[in-house]
Amino acid sequence: MRALVTGASVGIGRATAVRLARDGAEVAVQYRSHAREAESACREIRDAGGTAFAIAADLARAEDVERLARTVAERWPVLDILVLNAGSYPRAPFRELGPEAFERCFRENVFGSAELVRRLLPQLEAAHPGRIAFVSSVLAFDGSRHGAHYAAAKAALLGLGRSLARELAPRVRVNTVAPGAIDTAILADDTPELRAERERRIPLGRIGRPEEVADAIAFVVSDRASYLTGTTIHVNGGSRIG
Ligand SMILES: NC(=O)c1ccc[n+]([C@@H]2O[C@H](COP(=O)([O-])OP(=O)(O)OC[C@H]3O[C@@H](n4cnc5c(N)ncnc54)[C@H](OP(=O)(O)O)[C@@H]3O)[C@@H](O)[C@H]2O)c1
Repeated sequence: MRALVTGASVGIGRATAVRLARDGAEVAVQYRSHAREAESACREIRDAGGTAFAIAADLARAEDVERLARTVAERWPVLDILVLNAGSYPRAPFRELGPEAFERCFRENVFGSAELVRRLLPQLEAAHPGRIAFVSSVLAFDGSRHGAHYAAAKAALLGLGRSLARELAPRVRVNTVAPGAIDTAILADDTPELRAERERRIPLGRIGRPEEVADAIAFVVSDRASYLTGTTIHVNGGSRIG
């Protein structure tokens, strides 16, 4: 198995890369700015006997997406797994969100991922079944008080994933994982009060771990999920039910 995980230098993506490698996949670790962390993820995989290499790319830049797809396709004529995890959560009140902020957020979360799928489609179809996992967010369902552009982009990913599940079947399975609050850099700016408030609202009583999202991603791209496509798995400690 060969897997490309976007945003795999840190957080959920890194946990996913490590988990997929443990399941036997060779892993391409894409990152944007954290080169040292990406190399350390690759080292962790290699130290455990796996195979990994790191590639830098900003998914908001079309030329980077093209180069990333070309590098992976040249290396691997067959790509079994594509995890579209890269993203950031820039917080801002709606009144301050001009078109550039929306465009940047959609480029990073939606356009870059869609274009990566499009360019790697021959390699994914060659895997038969290729497996794609999008990483959306609970905020796609609940909305955000601090980032309308982010919630809108994550909701767009749901539509993209569902559409691709229909259009690419049966050669490619496409599913989405929607995390709730997970302990990564994305929550690093939380005050202790905000963190406590978050935890109070979560029925399981705590923020999630990146590995808990990685487990769900690893499941949807595995053979154990062979009859799963077009669905969304919520990993949120019960903060959203239904
Ligand atoms: N943590 C949460 O509570 C939570 C909740 C719901 C959804 N999510 C989603 O889960 C995914 C992973 O988030 P995380 O919490 O693991 O965050 P994180 O620790 O900040 O990691 C984000 C990853 O995405 C990469 N990235 C960000 N912008 C990029 C861009 N324009 N081009 C390429 N790579 C880019 C980063 O690369 P560099 O660091 O190398 O720049 C990093 O590897 C994101 O899509 C996020 O929206 C997270």
